[in-house]
Amino acid sequence: MSKEELLQFSQKPFWVGLRWAGFITFWLGFFAIVAAVIALIVLEEKCPEESLDWWQTEVIYQVYPRSFQDSDGDGVGDLKGVSSRLDYLQELGIGTIWMNPIYKSPMKDFGYDVSDYVDIDPIFGTMEEFEHLLGIMHEKGLKLVMDFVPNHSSDQHPWFVESRKSRDNEYSDYYVWVDKRDCNTMSCDTSCSGNQPQGCPPNNWLSVPRGSAWKWDQTRQQYYLHTYLAEQPDLNFNNPKVVKEMQDILLFWLDKGVDGFRLDAVSHIHEDTDYYNKDEPPSNKPNITADDYKYLKHIYTLDLPDTIERLREFRQVMNEYGTTAEKHIFSVNEVYITEYTDVETITKHYDVADMPFNFDLIGGLGPECHTGACIYGLVNTSLGMVPEGRWSNWVLGNHDEGRIASKMGGTYESAMNALLLLLPGTPTTYYGEEIGMLDHGSITFNETRDPRGLILGPDRYQEHSRDPARTPMQWDSSEPSAGFSTNPETWLPMHPDYKTINVQLQVMIDNSTLNTYKALVALRAKRSFQEGDLVLATPTDNLFAFSRNFKHGEPSYLCVMNVGYEAELYASSEDVTANNEGEVVVKYGTRFKIGDKIKIDEQIQLDPGELVVVEFYFY
Ligand code: GLC
Ligand code: MG
Repeated sequence: MSKEELLQFSQKPFWVGLRWAGFITFWLGFFAIVAAVIALIVLEEKCPEESLDWWQTEVIYQVYPRSFQDSDGDGVGDLKGVSSRLDYLQELGIGTIWMNPIYKSPMKDFGYDVSDYVDIDPIFGTMEEFEHLLGIMHEKGLKLVMDFVPNHSSDQHPWFVESRKSRDNEYSDYYVWVDKRDCNTMSCDTSCSGNQPQGCPPNNWLSVPRGSAWKWDQTRQQYYLHTYLAEQPDLNFNNPKVVKEMQDILLFWLDKGVDGFRLDAVSHIHEDTDYYNKDEPPSNKPNITADDYKYLKHIYTLDLPDTIERLREFRQVMNEYGTTAEKHIFSVNEVYITEYTDVETITKHYDVADMPFNFDLIGGLGPECHTGACIYGLVNTSLGMVPEGRWSNWVLGNHDEGRIASKMGGTYESAMNALLLLLPGTPTTYYGEEIGMLDHGSITFNETRDPRGLILGPDRYQEHSRDPARTPMQWDSSEPSAGFSTNPETWLPMHPDYKTINVQLQVMIDNSTLNTYKALVALRAKRSFQEGDLVLATPTDNLFAFSRNFKHGEPSYLCVMNVGYEAELYASSEDVTANNEGEVVVKYGTRFKIGDKIKIDEQIQLDPGELVVVEFYFY
């Protein structure tokens, strides 16, 4: 066919129509694809893969109320004191306060021996003052997490007072009461097989502070179990009435408006009646006396399977409450990994709480862990234990363990705070760790208050006393008590170095631990830290480094810290950064200034304890 003939066809209405149809379809398709791409980008920006809740996005700050701020000059911190320091906490940038127990208590274990779960101890203030505190916290957008102590009450709690009166009253089964050991059927220790009325305790179980976990009661003519002090009898969770009482207590505080709970000593909650007459085997650890808790393998008393069921019953109350209150009630369980607790046991706590506290840093950091490789190991193992889809968390110190600045050396406090705050997961800061407070190493036996120290006597109290890490907050350099109290006699002595380590001084110093802490908290609020991937760099003798990367056009961050004893130059590895330039956004040490543009792979030379966080873009 000739060209002319073909052109004739092209003028026919059919072919003209077809051409138009093709033309319109092409452009429609093109615009549809462009619109779809734009919509996808916009939508993805607007709704991140999963939206995070407050307990994930906010930093938790632990207030040990006896030591935070005294408002009435009795030398002991109180609720009004906490209220007066909320502005400070807001300036730090934290969003959640966990407060150690403030319930009515004879204070044998400083609040962990509760004699009334639904009232405030007068040393801390009144219920009105509590409500006031919670009210202003909420106005400021702060959340409050209470300490919940289900394992034991005080021996002064009305339940125990009744329970010990007889074997057949309303409260007689609220605690773990067991008959003395029958020496005819079981082997009895020669030390207690005499003719005393109490005979032998039902088994050889030991209490955490020291000595037998059983105490004879003259009136009931039975032994009761106390995992902690004799003044802290264990509640009996085989009794459904006890479960109900404790659930009601949760509801009481939820009705007050609290936002969550830290569940105390949960590994010990459940005891199995089948084990009441069973001895635990010796651990055969060297240099341990027979009354030391570590002397036995705790196969019958720690983390029994039913514990999780008890905890589920608590969590259920929170879940149901949360549905009606239209807010999520947060919970975190205090559970330590021990040689008797396997990883699965810990993992199960994610079913019955938002998370179990992760104590890997508290336990692993110390004088033995001053290499990049050691810290890499801790972080990597820890993250490996978080079940798929669940949220990690980090803790450097608390009221039971030594302070991190004393364990690692004050120089390293900011690097440790960077670990805490910039790794994925919720951080918990123990009060004073934002200024690098140290353990008070020279508290005398006479000044000692912690029963775990007192029980060991004047020669050995320092081995277990928790007082060194509980001294009052160091607010300023003023006499007599660093702004904590107007009273020169504080319940524990002030740390003697408060004139050099305190908030007031550090606020004014650019490169202080406090200002670095604030900068780190602010940085953590960025999506790259909340939701970004984590890549750990290959560690070296002195350096630990990681990057956090987020896709939606947001920057990535490289965090490098010198945790060792020698200066070292960071050699960027492919796994962490692209080979390019970045800007210093946080630093601790003297080498860099905020805003410095540096070449990641050439210029990060750090001295021991120094830290730098560099913002960069992959492309
Ligand atoms: C927890 C607390 C500790 C307390 C113990 C007994 O471990 O953190 O301070 O002594 O429980 O309640
Ligand atoms: Mg006071």
